[in-house]
Amino acid sequence: MKNKIEILQDKIQKAHLGGGQARIDSQHKKGKLTARERIHFLMDEGSFEEIGILVIHRSTDFGMETEKYLGDGVVTGYGTINGRLTYIFSQDFTVFGGSLSETHAEKICKIMEMATKNGAPLIGLNDSGGARIQEGVVSLGGYADIFYRNVQASGVIPQLSAIMGPCAGGAVYSPAITDFILMVENTSYMFVTGPNVVKTVTHEEVSSEELGGAVTHATKSGVTHFACANELEAISHVKKLLSYMPQNCEETPASLVYEMADESRPILNELLPQNATQPYDVREIISAVADTDSFLEVHKDYAENIVVGFARLAGKSLGIVANQPAYLAGVLDSNSSTKAARFVRFCDCFNIPLLVLEDVPGFLPGTDQEWNGIITNGAKLLYAFSEATVPRITVITRKAYGGAYDVMNSKHIGADMNYAWPTAEIAVMGAKGAAEIIFKREITSAENPQEKWIEKEKLYSDIFANPYRAAERGFVDEVIEPSQTRIKLIKAFKMLENKVVNNPRKKHGNIPL
Ligand code: COA
Repeated sequence: MKNKIEILQDKIQKAHLGGGQARIDSQHKKGKLTARERIHFLMDEGSFEEIGILVIHRSTDFGMETEKYLGDGVVTGYGTINGRLTYIFSQDFTVFGGSLSETHAEKICKIMEMATKNGAPLIGLNDSGGARIQEGVVSLGGYADIFYRNVQASGVIPQLSAIMGPCAGGAVYSPAITDFILMVENTSYMFVTGPNVVKTVTHEEVSSEELGGAVTHATKSGVTHFACANELEAISHVKKLLSYMPQNCEETPASLVYEMADESRPILNELLPQNATQPYDVREIISAVADTDSFLEVHKDYAENIVVGFARLAGKSLGIVANQPAYLAGVLDSNSSTKAARFVRFCDCFNIPLLVLEDVPGFLPGTDQEWNGIITNGAKLLYAFSEATVPRITVITRKAYGGAYDVMNSKHIGADMNYAWPTAEIAVMGAKGAAEIIFKREITSAENPQEKWIEKEKLYSDIFANPYRAAERGFVDEVIEPSQTRIKLIKAFKMLENKVVNNPRKKHGNIPL
């Protein structure tokens, strides 16, 4: 018996060494943790249970039959994060560069199926040289098996991908299907084709970091939701992100205990600039409305004209979508519409109520926007809000102009409660532009056209640059003093807690992609 136990212990020890100490050292030298160290930092101490530690590849080509490593380049299993069951796979770059073989893929698929069946989040820690080149098509099949399961699990359980090394070629599509991607600056990159292929095909000279590093994807493409300074920061972000989410689509997110106190926030009466054309940072409103330090911004550096992220209100998880007047005046464009639409759909999948802070001067004009499909992209946000059945509340702080008024969770597309501050201006467009169009003849024929224009602008502004026309119609449920926003929202979201909406039966909708 002793001998048999020793055999087992020997195998486990070997498996824990992955591709060997030299490769572990090389991983550390690059500033990267190993697959097991990442799991150690992510999961509650002692909670991780490994599945498939003895799996080895089946390849016999290119001398592979003599080179086998227990676990075959991926550590898979389950454990808890802040006490909650979570499934995980963590690719081990020390074994064939973390490349994906048939068995490596099978291990990941097994974990994905268990996560889906048992209704708990799935975390993928990616660090891989892509398809195991020695295995050819078998490895490609393995990728597709994973993609298929990602799609099956989408909307059922939260899926998070942290990219902690290379992620290239076909490998990128599993993270891309998951709900959130986190990347580590300088040590991770994602691209469909690398710098060498790019150079051959398009003659562009570009480094890996520039082509597909964390900062590139956080700012230019929006592929990653978070660019983290190092792996430990990425791990702590994964933990924080999970804290706002439920285990699966049948549950609601866990609440933190909250003792109600004086919930008025007088600072909100002071935050808007005197002049309605002046910018301000909407994050200041978010901080005053949400629980202290509870806001976790998603996609922070991408499409900055809209701010999205998770927060808590009286301890309860909340998704926030806010126009950002500090960037492009908070206008809606293609990227911001797509960014917000994806966030809204995530929240709706997982029963996270939505708060919209609206200050939007309309859609961004121009050939660039029109030719890049602002019509289709803007429609995504409209569609996402319209189909969302979670409790939805809008607060119009200032401008709500034109079609953007409709899109930003208006009452007409199913918002449950719509509040406006007395500073709200709900109109087809700004007073200046409106006067120029509807009083064109009077202005041009006037003795002093400029004076006439100002007079007519004031007239239009007096009628529409306020929230009262909308309130008279019930498009706005209440005009509130800004300082009362937080308490109003706490009460209204509580009132909506048991909301039930059944959209018409269908196979699935056809969001304009
Ligand atoms: N299949 C099999 N083995 C692979 C592999 C793959 N796709 N990618 C890397 N490896 C192996 C390497 O042979 C090397 O093995 P060794 O430790 O026995 O020497 C080990 O993984 C580390 O790779 P290395 O190239 O030394 O690391 P690096 O950090 O310098 O470069 C990559 C990493 C990912 C850029 C590089 O390995 C690479 O270009 N891999 C191929 C990518 C690819 O084309 N994949 C297939 C298409 S999806």
